[in-house]
Amino acid sequence: MSEAMAARRTVSVTVNGVAHERVIDARLTLVDFLRGELGMTGTHVGCEHGLCGACTVLLDGQAVRSCILLAVQADGAAITTVEGLATGGQLHPIQEAFMEAHGLQCGFCTPGFLMAVTELLEGTPDPTEDEIRDVLGGNLCRCTGYEAILASVKLAAAKLRALRGTVAGDG
Ligand code: FES
Ligand code: FES
Repeated sequence: MSEAMAARRTVSVTVNGVAHERVIDARLTLVDFLRGELGMTGTHVGCEHGLCGACTVLLDGQAVRSCILLAVQADGAAITTVEGLATGGQLHPIQEAFMEAHGLQCGFCTPGFLMAVTELLEGTPDPTEDEIRDVLGGNLCRCTGYEAILASVKLAAAKLRALRGTVAGDG
């Protein structure tokens, strides 16, 4: 087998519920795979060093930085990107909250924040301010000063709790 052939790998992943399989360069990062191979450009690339959080996606439900993972490391996994949050043309409650509480300005950092907050609120529906700040501390925003993002997360948590209460009440 030639070196070029040896450097290619088949990767199978499910992204936002849709299965994809590609033969790729084994050195391709997950974020470049999502953006370049699958055309999902909602996940942004900032620092490319695992520092800014712009590239955050969920890998089997866990928030990860897709710039420091190889796509081959995600083989067999279920990935959720920012494109997977809205359903049927309806924004996800976390997206609604960021819009209503002005949690974004230029929006470059927003996909990463949304995915990190999705993980937080899945596991911790009623987080304390310290717990929210702890998660937000992992993502960089050059525009907002973070206070509006903090308010957005509190609003998102309240929206999701209300929604879950409604659904539970319906049963
Ligand atoms: S682009 Fe991945 S952490 Fe900054
Ligand atoms: S809204 Fe511009 S970097 Fe966060």
